[in-house]
Amino acid sequence: MNKIKETTIIDYGYDGEGVGRVDGKVCFVPFTIKGEDVTFEVTKNKKSFYQGRLKEVLKGSDLRIKPPCKYFGRCGGCRYQHLPYDEELKIKAELLKRQLGKVGFEGDIEVVPTELEYQYRNKIKLFVGEGKVGLKYLASNKICDVKECKICEDLICEAIKYISNFVKGNDLYKKIVNIILRQEGDGCLVNFIVNDYYEINYQGLQLLLGEKYGIYQTYQNISRHICGKEFLEASEFGLNCKYSPQSFHQVNGNVCQKMYSEVLGYVRGKTLNCYSGNGVLSGIIAKGINDKVVGIEIGKAEHQEAERLKEENKLYNLVNINGDCDEVVKNNKEKFNTIIVDPPRNGLSEVMCENLLNKSAQRLIYISCNSATLVRDLGRIKAYKIKKAYLFDMFARTGEYEVMVFLKKD
Ligand SMILES: C[S@@+](CC[C@H](N)C(=O)[O-])C[C@H]1O[C@@H](n2cnc3c(N)ncnc32)[C@H](O)[C@@H]1O
Repeated sequence: MNKIKETTIIDYGYDGEGVGRVDGKVCFVPFTIKGEDVTFEVTKNKKSFYQGRLKEVLKGSDLRIKPPCKYFGRCGGCRYQHLPYDEELKIKAELLKRQLGKVGFEGDIEVVPTELEYQYRNKIKLFVGEGKVGLKYLASNKICDVKECKICEDLICEAIKYISNFVKGNDLYKKIVNIILRQEGDGCLVNFIVNDYYEINYQGLQLLLGEKYGIYQTYQNISRHICGKEFLEASEFGLNCKYSPQSFHQVNGNVCQKMYSEVLGYVRGKTLNCYSGNGVLSGIIAKGINDKVVGIEIGKAEHQEAERLKEENKLYNLVNINGDCDEVVKNNKEKFNTIIVDPPRNGLSEVMCENLLNKSAQRLIYISCNSATLVRDLGRIKAYKIKKAYLFDMFARTGEYEVMVFLKKD
């Protein structure tokens, strides 16, 4: 079989990849633009579609630009560096419009761009193995060795080469599984996730990185501070926040602030914040309203941070519960005016959808980083109708985006 095929790109797929037709099948070719003629190598041959790797652009689009990152096209992180940013936003908005159309929403979508197309990301997870330190290749489990990542904030981007040399120079491939870097302001924590209890000497690396950085080592979810900076500190909506290396935090601070402001605008009365992470959003709401706020979060590290935030900021109207939303919401008999849900990518469980339908709250705010599971869940909670939809471009240059919908029970 000829593995090289030729096609014209006529549309975009779910992750922004170009879509064409050849041999009576649909084909998906990442990093291509509508109207382009391209050749691609078949990487997956299924009954109804081909998955392809771009080989050559035969007739290029006028929109095509030179990607700033040398790893673009190989590394699986970014999808849109070959296009101007406003084109990326148009594609994402169109893809979301199609998704929300599946649940009958035909209103406008408010698109909120990122201020920075590059250097915005405050967190990255590096993979270690096969003599490499880096990110995964597109559609592969293999590691693409990288020395920088242009969408990350400056301290993260600068540290990658030192960390990579440290792992390689000390032959730590079999001990370290991942490295998570997290930046807030002018501080950065480097968290080495290991596969056993090891005494690794990080002092040389700390010296190279300098006082803005701190190093942690984590084994079986327990993080140990090794040297340098211990916490990251930030002020969010007038709240003092301290972040440890483990807990969840939205990756684009600027877009996150805009999103939290919008959430605050829709909140009325007693509020239940499900999947509340490190409690920043709960804290902002508790500070902004004269009513009770309850946050529910399953992660221990996140819950501890939420408790610390509550104490430090004297938020006496905030209750943080450490538990599984499925169970906690089911057993909680309180009446709320507003419910917020911000689940992980796999969305809400069927139990959680039932829970929402059984609650009397008229107002629901659903925040999602996966429009497919969002749409599935909206189909399960039809008593709530979308009144307003937003696309927050939290993950510029990648195929992902954050969605927020405000719903009301009729
Ligand atoms: C997308 S994050 C949202 C965090 C928060 N809303 C924010 O803006 O930072 C999802 C959070 O849900 C938590 N989580 C996942 N499954 C959960 C469950 N079944 N019950 C409660 N929390 C859960 C995760 O630990 C994570 O902190």
